Amino acid sequence: MNTLDPASTYDHALEVLKENDHGDYTIPTKGLYPFQWNWDSCLTALGQSHYDEARAWTEIDTLFAHQWPDGMVPHIVFHVYSDGYFPGPNVWATNRPTPTSGITQPPVAGFAVKRLFDRARDKALATERARALLPKIDAWHRWFYADRDPHDEGLVAILHPWESGRDNSIDWDEAFERVPTEGVEPYTRRDTQHADPAHRPTKAQYDRYLWLVQHFRDLDWDNSRLHDASPFQVIDPGFNAILIRACADLADLAEALGENQIAADNRARAAAGLKAIEGLWSDSHGQYLCKDRTTDALIDSATIGGILPVFAAIPKPRAHEIARTIERWADAAKFIVPSHDPLDPRFEAKRYWRGPVWLVMNYMIADGLTVIGETAVAEHIIRSSLDLITQSGFAEYYDPTTGEPCGGGRFTWTAAMVIEFLDLMGR
Ligand code: DGY
Repeated sequence: MNTLDPASTYDHALEVLKENDHGDYTIPTKGLYPFQWNWDSCLTALGQSHYDEARAWTEIDTLFAHQWPDGMVPHIVFHVYSDGYFPGPNVWATNRPTPTSGITQPPVAGFAVKRLFDRARDKALATERARALLPKIDAWHRWFYADRDPHDEGLVAILHPWESGRDNSIDWDEAFERVPTEGVEPYTRRDTQHADPAHRPTKAQYDRYLWLVQHFRDLDWDNSRLHDASPFQVIDPGFNAILIRACADLADLAEALGENQIAADNRARAAAGLKAIEGLWSDSHGQYLCKDRTTDALIDSATIGGILPVFAAIPKPRAHEIARTIERWADAAKFIVPSHDPLDPRFEAKRYWRGPVWLVMNYMIADGLTVIGETAVAEHIIRSSLDLITQSGFAEYYDPTTGEPCGGGRFTWTAAMVIEFLDLMGR
């Protein structure tokens, strides 16, 4: 295997970030994803902050300029027309001034903004930009608990697999069976023209993705109605952990900026979430599991979604147990952290979220493990991430058994995470 050259790896990452930069937002990669994606942008800003702090703040500002009046922040903003992606704005039909999708994505903004603020070299700029973003992120968090936790359980549901960011995870298979496919309008996929179809979700999954989009569109994207009207309501521990961490981070940031009400509200949301997430723990898997809200049953699927809660302040024994689970997975895969238990017969090494490694997941998991002192596992994850880059370049994701690059190439958030990892290693 080639050895890592930190300086040239950094330069290469910078090149990828710059070539996908459209001025005030960054696309994930040319061809496959030609617009602004929500959590991509927030994590990308972390990478950008190493060389241009103002540009990093702008990345997040641009996303929030397209927040809906009810507080929801959409998963895609269609800034400029491109026919290279499906489903485009006319399928979503959300009737926004700048077209957007109608669903959301993992709320990493609260975490990202706190991190940008904490390490800012330009404190005056950071204070000004963070102060302006605070009420917007708070409104997004409030929206989550109002419209996605309507019965006050402390945990929010996703209503579409795309909201999780882990589109075709095995976590959704069972609940997805309940989503019909009759009445889906004829369509032509574009993703399989940009990436190997064997690495992408199946046609059956795509039909159901689109059925849900059409169903929500028929309800006029009225978020106060979508939750109860959706046949797909899943509580994802990873998604909730991101929200809990974002609430806790936003509370700290609000306190530092003297916004006491925002601080108190977010502190309370994080506390309720941490209490409720315990109901998703599985002793036999040594991790958390998803829960199907429509049946009230845990879903027997050991994925990275149940590992990710180390990113939030879960009880320490749980986090240590998760570190042991990662070590078990590491014995079965060459590169970590796979998105599904590699010993499960349903594991698929190359297909999107059914097995491959993603650097954004590695970043959040390593961050959580470092906080609780599991530094050896955290360092293993960082090493594995940089080995993948050295061997296979800046791909969207990687086969954990071989390191082969999969999905789109020259990927923005992969480059951003590499810059973060190099920095953690004292580049
Ligand atoms: C896609 O189109 O594959 C995206 O993941 C949905 O946002």
